Amino acid sequence: PASPLDVAPITGTIGAEIRGVTLSGDLDGDTVQAIKDALVRHKVVFFRGQHELTDQRHEEFASLFGDPVAHPTVPVAEGSRYLLELDSKEGYAASSWHTDVTFTDAYPAGSILRAITIPEAGGDTVWANTETAYEGLPESLRQLVNNLWAVHSNDYDYAAVLANAPKADDAAKERTLYHKNIFASTVYETEHPLVRVHPVSGQRSLLLGHFVKRIVGLNQADSARIFSILQEHITRPENVVRWRWQPGDVAFWDNQATQHRAVADFGLQRRTLRRATIAGSVPVAIDG
Ligand code: SIN
Repeated sequence: PASPLDVAPITGTIGAEIRGVTLSGDLDGDTVQAIKDALVRHKVVFFRGQHELTDQRHEEFASLFGDPVAHPTVPVAEGSRYLLELDSKEGYAASSWHTDVTFTDAYPAGSILRAITIPEAGGDTVWANTETAYEGLPESLRQLVNNLWAVHSNDYDYAAVLANAPKADDAAKERTLYHKNIFASTVYETEHPLVRVHPVSGQRSLLLGHFVKRIVGLNQADSARIFSILQEHITRPENVVRWRWQPGDVAFWDNQATQHRAVADFGLQRRTLRRATIAGSVPVAIDG
């Protein structure tokens, strides 16, 4: 049957804008299913002008797609039950490529990010399609990654993230250390396959991002080289969509088939967003 939604793809590989829907917890079953289908196909979908989406409605909308879950270490945003606040005043942890919360076993299936305060210029977010990244690998590299596993941890490289903070921002270091204290207050570590089979579509994708500490069975130097070769494939421009935010915009991504990062090019301007996260399942490797 035809989709009840107006879905306009943004690139040939990832991202679509969905128009004509007001997000809430009251959407009918056909609309919810059509959003799920659009997510499997486009990986990240965008809704403009959702000014009526309060924290509570944001959570109710998220619960149509599964169980909303709070971040494992960061306290929930004030006045909400599950939402994570991303505030440029608190540091720059989202400004390197990652998939959300992969340092836990059953990391989130999806995330729904709502823009509250957006800089006049800059502060875009970019997403990459990790399925087309896998499909685009030469056969020999696919053979290599098919059986590899990686260690993911929230105790990752904050110095690298700090390098993205604006130079004039003297307080950035303290804030980032403060953020590190909250973020890695309990150290999580887990192993995931490098190639994940999608629980709905059965498609294979590359599972990496900035929480990867090393690849199992390889030394640090070989791990780092293979990691950067694969990350380069994932983040090729052909594989990426970039979103220019306006307050009230919502981005909903399939966290099982994407990576994303914020672009830290907005100096000392304020940027705040809130994110609902939906519980996921333990990744299944190619051999089950
Ligand atoms: C996130 O990593 O979920 C947030 C990305 C952003 O702030 O653009």
